[in-house]
Amino acid sequence: MKRIYLDNAATTPLLPEVKDFMCRALELYGNPSSSHRIGEEARELLELARENIASFLNVLPSEIVFNSCATEGNNTVLRNVLYLKRRGNIVISSIEHKSVKAVARELEKEGIELREAIVGTDGIVELEALQTLIDEDTLLVSVMSVSNEFGTIQPIHEISKLCMERGVPFHTDAVQALGKVNFSLQGVNYATFSAHKFHAPKGVGFMFVREGSVLKPLLLGGGQEGGLRSGTQNLPGILAMAKALELIYENLDENISKVEKLRDSFESLLLEKIPDVKIVGKYSRRSPSISAVIFPRGNSRDIVNGLSERDLFCSSGSACSSGEVIPNEHLIKMGFSQEEATRMVRFSFGLLNGEEEVSEAVDRILKVL
Ligand SMILES: Cc1ncc(COP(=O)(O)O)c(C=O)c1O
Repeated sequence: MKRIYLDNAATTPLLPEVKDFMCRALELYGNPSSSHRIGEEARELLELARENIASFLNVLPSEIVFNSCATEGNNTVLRNVLYLKRRGNIVISSIEHKSVKAVARELEKEGIELREAIVGTDGIVELEALQTLIDEDTLLVSVMSVSNEFGTIQPIHEISKLCMERGVPFHTDAVQALGKVNFSLQGVNYATFSAHKFHAPKGVGFMFVREGSVLKPLLLGGGQEGGLRSGTQNLPGILAMAKALELIYENLDENISKVEKLRDSFESLLLEKIPDVKIVGKYSRRSPSISAVIFPRGNSRDIVNGLSERDLFCSSGSACSSGEVIPNEHLIKMGFSQEEATRMVRFSFGLLNGEEEVSEAVDRILKVL
């Protein structure tokens, strides 16, 4: 059976051009911090990659800080509030990724109050509720650009305006946005990214740190990345990341439409065959890459495992403990029932998926159900 990979929100395969490019880049062994010519050559390529990435995002090269992944970026930005040396609160949305939530919980132990803005059944953070949480003691607001679970696009520009009016720094985890939706960093102070989510390699990412924003580094050492992230840069990974963005941004609108067509035909076919499935955030602004489906029967673990046996790869919307399927806590908070919260499966599409995979995927889903 042909393998069908619909788990692109977890990670994406390399674009073939990126793979070829990276294989060649692996020959570059120079350390960008060395003062000799080999180091200088490496440094020039590193800075070129920084300039290219900055130009796609319409920001300054000096505002791009290379690191290992978004988990590192999120830890760096959230922990930064500890250096402000004052008590206060941070505001996050209730559906943030674990790499934001787990750090926020650690900050609570250090005396920082954690405030969570609610998200409606439509998968969108409630702006009015969020607004009431921000006050003069707010040290940081952190809301993701696109939900990794539901694909819903969060109103980050409205949130950044609220923050700006109150003089509060704003961070967005933009992992599921870059290369997948049209988005801009206007009004954002900090943003975090992982390359493997946009058809580039794992173990490399970057932060956007707006000029003038305070950031204490998480890692100290050689002072690379303007002192904001010590450690020798992963040059082949960074070059491959810049290459992937270059290829995606060359035809961004076309690439977005391609994935949107796949997602739309998948959802139409699924709804035609199983009319009582629910798609979370169906009528909200959504990333074309993610379809969060609540099935009318079964549970997410059994469905995902059954599909995996049939060579269709997707992701369970719920965790498991001692063999029990635990309802997805984000869905519960959004107002879905306990049952529904055990039945969500996430299908996520990427640039290497083909139209022919859609009907085959739906056939396999019907068999498993
Ligand atoms: C929204 C979001 N933030 C952060 C991360 C963490 O990315 P990484 O594991 O590459 O650090 C992910 C990965 O799934 C994600 O989807």
